Amino acid sequence: MTIPASRVEHVADPSRKAGLIGNCPDPAQLLGHSPGLRLDVLDRLRDASVLSAAQFDKDLLCELAKLAALLQLKSFPVLDALEDKILAAAFFEPSTRTRLSFESAMLHLGGKTISVADAKTTGVAKGESMRDIGQMFNSYADIVAVRHTEQSAVGELCKYLRIPLLNGGNGSDEHPSQALADWYALLKWRPEIAYGTIPEKFRLNIGIIGTPGNMRTVKSFLMLALLFEKNINHITIFSEMADPLGEEIRAMTNASAIGINFSQDLSQSLEYLDVVYMNAIAYLGDGYRFFGDAFSLDASSPLKPDTVILHPLARGEELSVDLDHTQHNLYFNQADGAVWIRQALLLCIFGRVADVVPPEHLS
Ligand code: CP
Repeated sequence: MTIPASRVEHVADPSRKAGLIGNCPDPAQLLGHSPGLRLDVLDRLRDASVLSAAQFDKDLLCELAKLAALLQLKSFPVLDALEDKILAAAFFEPSTRTRLSFESAMLHLGGKTISVADAKTTGVAKGESMRDIGQMFNSYADIVAVRHTEQSAVGELCKYLRIPLLNGGNGSDEHPSQALADWYALLKWRPEIAYGTIPEKFRLNIGIIGTPGNMRTVKSFLMLALLFEKNINHITIFSEMADPLGEEIRAMTNASAIGINFSQDLSQSLEYLDVVYMNAIAYLGDGYRFFGDAFSLDASSPLKPDTVILHPLARGEELSVDLDHTQHNLYFNQADGAVWIRQALLLCIFGRVADVVPPEHLS
């Protein structure tokens, strides 16, 4: 059989194979100015469930990002690091990135995965309780990544689990490992956020399009942003809702030195924003709702030349595909990095970091 020339060119194009679309900061930048990994900090995650971004402080987030960078650079072998472990990826709500990147992360480390991709294929369809489902996770896996439409589901499951749980998104509440992926991308892009203090006039201005009060990715991203008060000047929230923060997040932002602004005029604000975090889809109890799609970006938007855009995806009309091949596009790198930061998380939770990281990479 003769392969058509167009298909041969497609496979042979090295930039396509490497997936080099948009802004691809070198993970080595994150390691260049830093001491080696701090095992004492990473060991705080040993045997831990990850339920909320509130579990992370700046040190833990930055050490995790450094470990992810070492993994992404393939600095040492990890192919059998978790060969005796099984991850259950139990997704009771649809997902592309979170479920697949958790599974990919486990497979990169030599572990095995079992998966629920659709609640309808489980006993939930027959009215099975979370209590009984939790017992099965204990029997069949060593760790479970869970997504559920109900905010209370992960807490409920934890009551019956003897293995760690990774919250892959619980209703409108939180998506902590997504926030780790968000910040892994930003710390690769500007490593100085992790190390030292940025002079005041160069501190970041971040725009968030969405409602932290009821959008889990936006909420967890904002919670981690508040860890960098020495390097972030202002965060501006763009939302059509009267109270985009809600009581819980407002208490956190009130306690932070970072200035929080609210605006409905994205176009006018773009001239001073260094980072734009956008999302428009939220699951609210009975289905998906679109928030913030009044605020959209495309290649003609008046962005500063070095502004980067983050988006947890899936995207809607708010983010034009004509931005994909520009340097504003950090969102594909954000999704790509998820597999490395989730590997870092798994190694820490199973207490295997010291087994795989050679001494020259430790502090
Ligand atoms: N970022 C994210 O949560 O994407 P998925 O819904 O595809 O998992």
